[in-house]
Amino acid sequence: IKNIAVFTSGGDSPGMNAAIRAVVRTSLHYNLNVFGIQRGYDGMVNGDIFPMDAKSVANIIQRGGTILKTARSKEFRTVEGRQQAYEQIRKFQIDGLVAIGGDGTFTGAAKFIEEHDIPVMGLPGTIDNDLAGTDFTIGYDTAINTVISAVDKIRDTAESHDRLFIIEVMGRDSGLIALRSGIGTGAEAILIPESATNSKALLEKLAHGRKDKSSKIVLVAEGDEEGGAFAIAELVKKHFPNYDTRVSILGHIQRGGSPTCMDRVLASRLGVAAVEALLAGRKGEMAGVINGDIAFTPFNKAIKHIDSLTPSLLKIVDILS
Ligand code: F6P
Repeated sequence: IKNIAVFTSGGDSPGMNAAIRAVVRTSLHYNLNVFGIQRGYDGMVNGDIFPMDAKSVANIIQRGGTILKTARSKEFRTVEGRQQAYEQIRKFQIDGLVAIGGDGTFTGAAKFIEEHDIPVMGLPGTIDNDLAGTDFTIGYDTAINTVISAVDKIRDTAESHDRLFIIEVMGRDSGLIALRSGIGTGAEAILIPESATNSKALLEKLAHGRKDKSSKIVLVAEGDEEGGAFAIAELVKKHFPNYDTRVSILGHIQRGGSPTCMDRVLASRLGVAAVEALLAGRKGEMAGVINGDIAFTPFNKAIKHIDSLTPSLLKIVDILS
Protein backbone atom coordinates (compact mmCIF):
# COMPACT_ATOMS: atom_id res chain seq x y z
CA ILE A 1 0.00 0.00 0.00
CA LYS A 2 1.33 3.40 -1.03
CA ASN A 3 -1.62 5.76 -1.17
CA ILE A 4 -4.28 5.89 1.54
CA ALA A 5 -7.44 8.00 1.56
CA VAL A 6 -9.58 8.87 4.56
CA PHE A 7 -13.20 10.05 4.71
CA THR A 8 -16.05 10.60 7.15
CA SER A 9 -19.58 9.50 6.36
CA GLY A 10 -23.08 9.50 7.93
CA GLY A 11 -23.90 11.64 10.96
CA ASP A 12 -20.84 13.47 12.29
CA SER A 13 -19.54 12.83 15.80
CA PRO A 14 -17.11 14.66 18.09
CA GLY A 15 -13.70 13.07 17.73
CA MET A 16 -13.91 12.48 13.98
CA ASN A 17 -11.27 15.20 13.51
CA ALA A 18 -8.97 13.51 16.02
CA ALA A 19 -9.43 10.29 14.02
CA ILE A 20 -8.64 12.02 10.69
CA ARG A 21 -5.54 13.54 12.26
CA ALA A 22 -4.40 10.14 13.52
CA VAL A 23 -4.92 8.49 10.12
CA VAL A 24 -3.05 11.26 8.27
CA ARG A 25 -0.12 11.44 10.68
CA THR A 26 0.23 7.64 10.93
CA SER A 27 0.23 7.33 7.14
CA LEU A 28 2.98 9.95 6.94
CA HIS A 29 4.88 8.18 9.70
CA TYR A 30 4.97 5.06 7.49
CA ASN A 31 5.95 7.12 4.41
CA LEU A 32 2.61 6.71 2.66
CA ASN A 33 0.87 9.36 0.61
CA VAL A 34 -2.43 10.33 2.19
CA PHE A 35 -5.54 11.90 0.65
CA GLY A 36 -8.75 13.33 2.10
CA ILE A 37 -12.11 12.70 0.47
CA GLN A 38 -14.77 15.39 0.98
CA ARG A 39 -18.37 14.60 2.02
CA GLY A 40 -17.98 10.85 2.39
CA TYR A 41 -19.07 8.58 -0.44
CA ASP A 42 -20.53 11.55 -2.36
CA GLY A 43 -17.05 13.01 -2.64
CA MET A 44 -15.66 9.67 -3.75
CA VAL A 45 -18.25 9.42 -6.53
CA ASN A 46 -17.52 13.00 -7.64
CA GLY A 47 -13.74 12.85 -7.26
CA ASP A 48 -13.52 15.45 -4.46
CA ILE A 49 -10.17 14.07 -3.38
CA PHE A 50 -7.12 16.09 -2.30
CA PRO A 51 -3.66 15.39 -0.86
CA MET A 52 -3.18 15.98 2.86
CA ASP A 53 -0.05 16.62 4.90
CA ALA A 54 0.88 16.97 8.57
CA LYS A 55 -0.11 20.65 8.53
CA SER A 56 -3.56 20.01 7.08
CA VAL A 57 -4.56 18.27 10.33
CA ALA A 58 -2.91 20.76 12.68
CA ASN A 59 -5.09 22.29 15.38
CA ILE A 60 -8.11 20.04 14.79
CA ILE A 61 -7.89 17.46 17.60
CA GLN A 62 -10.05 19.68 19.81
CA ARG A 63 -12.66 20.58 17.19
CA GLY A 64 -16.11 19.00 16.88
CA GLY A 65 -17.62 18.13 13.50
CA THR A 66 -15.43 16.90 10.66
CA ILE A 67 -13.07 19.01 8.55
CA LEU A 68 -13.68 16.56 5.68
CA LYS A 69 -17.44 17.18 5.89
CA THR A 70 -19.88 14.32 5.71
CA ALA A 71 -22.99 13.12 3.88
CA ARG A 72 -25.40 10.22 3.56
CA SER A 73 -24.85 9.38 -0.09
CA LYS A 74 -27.73 8.14 -2.28
CA GLU A 75 -25.54 7.57 -5.32
CA PHE A 76 -23.17 5.21 -3.53
CA ARG A 77 -26.12 2.92 -2.77
CA THR A 78 -26.24 2.02 -6.48
CA VAL A 79 -23.87 -0.32 -8.36
CA GLU A 80 -23.21 2.48 -10.89
CA GLY A 81 -22.38 4.95 -8.10
CA ARG A 82 -19.90 2.54 -6.55
CA GLN A 83 -18.33 1.85 -9.98
CA GLN A 84 -17.87 5.59 -10.52
CA ALA A 85 -16.36 5.96 -7.03
CA TYR A 86 -13.89 3.18 -7.77
CA GLU A 87 -12.82 4.85 -11.03
CA GLN A 88 -12.26 8.13 -9.18
CA ILE A 89 -10.05 6.63 -6.50
CA ARG A 90 -8.05 4.72 -9.11
CA LYS A 91 -7.28 8.05 -10.81
CA PHE A 92 -5.38 8.97 -7.65
CA GLN A 93 -3.87 5.46 -7.41
CA ILE A 94 -5.43 5.07 -3.99
CA ASP A 95 -4.91 1.52 -2.81
CA GLY A 96 -6.28 1.68 0.76
CA LEU A 97 -9.22 3.46 2.41
CA VAL A 98 -10.09 4.40 5.97
CA ALA A 99 -13.83 4.97 6.48
CA ILE A 100 -14.96 6.79 9.63
CA GLY A 101 -18.67 6.41 10.36
CA GLY A 102 -21.46 4.14 11.55
CA ASP A 103 -23.58 1.29 10.25
CA GLY A 104 -24.51 2.95 6.93
CA THR A 105 -20.85 3.69 6.26
CA PHE A 106 -19.79 0.09 6.90
CA THR A 107 -22.69 -1.38 4.92
CA GLY A 108 -21.49 0.70 1.94
CA ALA A 109 -17.85 -0.26 2.55
CA ALA A 110 -18.69 -3.99 2.65
CA LYS A 111 -20.49 -3.73 -0.73
CA PHE A 112 -17.59 -1.73 -2.19
CA ILE A 113 -15.05 -4.40 -1.20
CA GLU A 114 -17.30 -7.13 -2.60
CA GLU A 115 -17.48 -5.42 -6.00
CA HIS A 116 -14.01 -3.90 -6.24
CA ASP A 117 -10.59 -5.00 -5.20
CA ILE A 118 -9.81 -2.32 -2.63
CA PRO A 119 -8.90 -2.74 1.05
CA VAL A 120 -11.03 -0.67 3.44
CA MET A 121 -10.68 -0.42 7.21
CA GLY A 122 -13.32 1.29 9.35
CA LEU A 123 -13.32 3.45 12.46
CA PRO A 124 -16.49 3.64 14.59
CA GLY A 125 -17.58 7.29 14.38
CA THR A 126 -21.09 7.80 15.75
CA ILE A 127 -22.59 9.29 18.89
CA ASP A 128 -25.06 6.39 19.13
CA ASN A 129 -22.58 3.71 20.36
CA ASP A 130 -24.58 1.21 18.32
CA LEU A 131 -21.79 -0.88 16.80
CA ALA A 132 -20.63 -4.32 17.83
CA GLY A 133 -16.88 -4.86 18.12
CA THR A 134 -16.07 -1.86 20.28
CA ASP A 135 -17.02 -0.97 23.83
CA PHE A 136 -17.40 2.66 22.81
CA THR A 137 -17.71 4.54 19.54
CA ILE A 138 -15.91 7.81 18.83
CA GLY A 139 -18.25 10.64 19.91
CA TYR A 140 -20.41 8.73 22.38
CA ASP A 141 -18.59 9.94 25.48
CA THR A 142 -18.82 13.57 24.35
CA ALA A 143 -22.51 13.20 23.48
CA ILE A 144 -23.49 11.71 26.85
CA ASN A 145 -21.54 14.43 28.62
CA THR A 146 -23.41 17.04 26.57
CA VAL A 147 -26.68 15.36 27.53
CA ILE A 148 -25.93 15.25 31.25
CA SER A 149 -24.93 18.89 31.34
CA ALA A 150 -28.24 19.81 29.61
CA VAL A 151 -30.33 17.53 31.83
CA ASP A 152 -28.65 18.86 34.99
CA LYS A 153 -29.78 22.35 33.96
CA ILE A 154 -33.30 21.13 33.29
CA ARG A 155 -33.28 19.40 36.70
CA ASP A 156 -32.65 22.78 38.37
CA THR A 157 -35.74 24.36 36.90
CA ALA A 158 -37.80 21.16 37.22
CA GLU A 159 -37.00 21.07 40.94
CA SER A 160 -37.87 24.75 41.43
CA HIS A 161 -41.29 24.29 39.80
CA ASP A 162 -42.04 20.71 40.97
CA ARG A 163 -42.29 19.64 37.34
CA LEU A 164 -42.02 16.44 35.38
CA PHE A 165 -39.85 16.71 32.26
CA ILE A 166 -39.93 14.32 29.34
CA ILE A 167 -36.57 14.78 27.60
CA GLU A 168 -35.88 13.28 24.19
CA VAL A 169 -32.31 12.37 23.27
CA MET A 170 -30.80 11.03 20.05
CA GLY A 171 -30.45 7.38 19.11
CA ARG A 172 -32.37 6.26 16.06
CA ASP A 173 -32.06 2.53 16.70
CA SER A 174 -30.38 2.51 20.06
CA GLY A 175 -31.11 3.74 23.56
CA LEU A 176 -27.52 3.81 24.77
CA ILE A 177 -27.36 7.62 24.91
CA ALA A 178 -30.55 7.66 27.00
CA LEU A 179 -29.39 4.79 29.16
CA ARG A 180 -26.03 6.06 30.37
CA SER A 181 -27.09 9.70 30.59
CA GLY A 182 -30.19 8.54 32.48
CA ILE A 183 -28.03 6.83 35.08
CA GLY A 184 -25.74 9.87 35.16
CA THR A 185 -28.59 12.29 35.86
CA GLY A 186 -30.67 10.15 38.20
CA ALA A 187 -33.59 9.96 35.77
CA GLU A 188 -36.78 8.44 37.15
CA ALA A 189 -37.38 6.39 34.00
CA ILE A 190 -35.88 5.70 30.60
CA LEU A 191 -37.69 4.63 27.45
CA ILE A 192 -35.48 2.95 24.85
CA PRO A 193 -36.08 0.83 21.76
CA GLU A 194 -34.14 -2.19 23.06
CA SER A 195 -36.23 -2.88 26.10
CA ALA A 196 -39.74 -3.95 26.91
CA THR A 197 -39.90 -0.94 29.22
CA ASN A 198 -42.85 0.83 27.71
CA SER A 199 -45.24 3.59 28.52
CA LYS A 200 -47.30 1.24 30.69
CA ALA A 201 -44.27 0.60 32.90
CA LEU A 202 -43.68 4.34 33.07
CA LEU A 203 -47.28 4.99 34.20
CA GLU A 204 -46.91 2.24 36.82
CA LYS A 205 -43.72 3.80 38.08
CA LEU A 206 -45.30 7.26 38.29
CA ALA A 207 -48.31 5.82 40.12
CA HIS A 208 -46.41 3.63 42.58
CA GLY A 209 -42.88 5.07 42.69
CA ARG A 210 -41.46 7.43 45.27
CA LYS A 211 -43.80 10.22 46.25
CA ASP A 212 -41.18 12.33 48.00
CA LYS A 213 -39.50 13.62 44.85
CA SER A 214 -40.56 17.02 43.68
CA SER A 215 -38.97 16.91 40.21
CA LYS A 216 -39.08 14.01 37.78
CA ILE A 217 -36.98 13.38 34.70
CA VAL A 218 -37.97 10.84 32.05
CA LEU A 219 -35.50 10.25 29.23
CA VAL A 220 -36.85 9.01 25.90
CA ALA A 221 -34.60 7.78 23.08
CA GLU A 222 -35.83 9.16 19.76
CA GLY A 223 -35.93 5.57 18.44
CA ASP A 224 -38.37 4.44 21.12
CA GLU A 225 -41.36 2.88 19.41
CA GLU A 226 -43.97 4.75 21.36
CA GLY A 227 -43.84 7.97 19.43
CA GLY A 228 -41.25 10.23 21.03
CA ALA A 229 -41.37 12.75 23.86
CA PHE A 230 -44.57 14.57 22.85
CA ALA A 231 -46.61 11.36 22.59
CA ILE A 232 -45.32 10.19 25.99
CA ALA A 233 -46.10 13.60 27.49
CA GLU A 234 -49.71 13.42 26.22
CA LEU A 235 -50.12 10.03 27.85
CA VAL A 236 -48.66 11.21 31.13
CA LYS A 237 -50.87 14.31 31.11
CA LYS A 238 -53.95 12.16 30.52
CA HIS A 239 -53.21 9.85 33.45
CA PHE A 240 -51.65 12.39 35.77
CA PRO A 241 -53.36 15.72 35.12
CA ASN A 242 -51.95 17.02 38.40
CA TYR A 243 -48.37 16.76 37.19
CA ASP A 244 -46.99 19.93 35.66
CA THR A 245 -45.44 18.22 32.62
CA ARG A 246 -43.04 19.74 30.09
CA VAL A 247 -41.17 18.41 27.04
CA SER A 248 -37.61 19.16 25.96
CA ILE A 249 -35.97 17.78 22.82
CA LEU A 250 -32.19 18.12 22.98
CA GLY A 251 -31.59 17.53 19.25
CA HIS A 252 -28.37 18.23 17.39
CA ILE A 253 -26.49 19.89 20.24
CA GLN A 254 -25.70 16.27 21.07
CA ARG A 255 -23.65 15.92 17.89
CA GLY A 256 -21.49 19.02 18.30
CA GLY A 257 -18.86 20.37 20.62
CA SER A 258 -15.27 19.75 21.51
CA PRO A 259 -14.57 16.03 22.02
CA THR A 260 -13.80 14.79 25.54
CA CYS A 261 -10.34 13.47 26.29
CA MET A 262 -11.73 9.90 26.19
CA ASP A 263 -12.99 10.44 22.63
CA ARG A 264 -9.73 12.09 21.50
CA VAL A 265 -7.66 9.22 22.87
CA LEU A 266 -9.99 6.57 21.45
CA ALA A 267 -9.92 8.25 18.02
CA SER A 268 -6.13 8.55 18.12
CA ARG A 269 -5.60 4.90 19.08
CA LEU A 270 -8.02 3.64 16.46
CA GLY A 271 -6.63 5.90 13.71
CA VAL A 272 -3.15 4.46 14.26
CA ALA A 273 -4.55 0.91 14.44
CA ALA A 274 -6.51 1.26 11.17
CA VAL A 275 -3.49 2.38 9.13
CA GLU A 276 -1.26 -0.27 10.66
CA ALA A 277 -3.95 -2.87 9.92
CA LEU A 278 -4.06 -1.83 6.25
CA LEU A 279 -0.29 -2.16 6.09
CA ALA A 280 -0.56 -5.61 7.66
CA GLY A 281 -2.92 -6.67 4.88
CA ARG A 282 -6.25 -6.50 6.77
CA LYS A 283 -9.43 -5.30 5.08
CA GLY A 284 -13.20 -5.21 5.54
CA GLU A 285 -12.97 -4.73 9.30
CA MET A 286 -13.69 -2.09 11.89
CA ALA A 287 -11.03 -1.27 14.46
CA GLY A 288 -12.45 -1.02 17.97
CA VAL A 289 -11.43 -1.29 21.59
CA ILE A 290 -12.74 -4.19 23.67
CA ASN A 291 -11.76 -4.38 27.35
CA GLY A 292 -8.94 -1.95 26.69
CA ASP A 293 -7.41 -3.84 23.75
CA ILE A 294 -7.58 -3.07 20.03
CA ALA A 295 -9.93 -5.53 18.28
CA PHE A 296 -10.95 -6.00 14.64
CA THR A 297 -14.49 -6.94 13.65
CA PRO A 298 -15.76 -7.65 10.12
CA PHE A 299 -18.10 -4.90 8.86
CA ASN A 300 -21.10 -7.23 8.60
CA LYS A 301 -20.72 -8.18 12.28
CA ALA A 302 -19.98 -4.63 13.48
CA ILE A 303 -23.33 -3.37 12.19
CA LYS A 304 -25.31 -6.00 14.13
CA HIS A 305 -25.26 -4.34 17.47
CA ILE A 306 -26.71 -5.82 20.64
CA ASP A 307 -25.47 -4.31 23.87
CA SER A 308 -25.18 -7.03 26.47
CA LEU A 309 -24.96 -4.47 29.27
CA THR A 310 -28.36 -2.91 28.54
CA PRO A 311 -30.49 -5.08 30.89
CA SER A 312 -28.13 -4.58 33.83
CA LEU A 313 -27.94 -0.83 33.21
CA LEU A 314 -31.74 -0.63 33.08
CA LYS A 315 -31.91 -2.45 36.39
CA ILE A 316 -29.61 0.16 37.90
CA VAL A 317 -32.00 2.92 36.81
CA ASP A 318 -34.85 1.08 38.48
CA ILE A 319 -33.03 0.46 41.75
CA LEU A 320 -31.56 3.92 42.11
CA SER A 321 -34.37 6.25 41.05
O1 F6P B 1 -26.60 8.34 13.90
C1 F6P B 1 -26.42 9.51 14.59
C2 F6P B 1 -27.71 10.30 14.69
O2 F6P B 1 -27.41 11.45 15.44
C3 F6P B 1 -28.90 9.54 15.25
O3 F6P B 1 -28.89 9.46 16.65
C4 F6P B 1 -30.03 10.36 14.71
O4 F6P B 1 -31.21 9.62 14.59
C5 F6P B 1 -29.54 10.76 13.35
O5 F6P B 1 -28.13 10.72 13.40
C6 F6P B 1 -30.02 12.11 12.90
O6 F6P B 1 -29.56 12.33 11.62
P1 F6P B 1 -29.73 13.71 10.83
O7 F6P B 1 -28.79 14.69 11.44
O8 F6P B 1 -29.37 13.36 9.43
O9 F6P B 1 -31.15 14.12 10.99
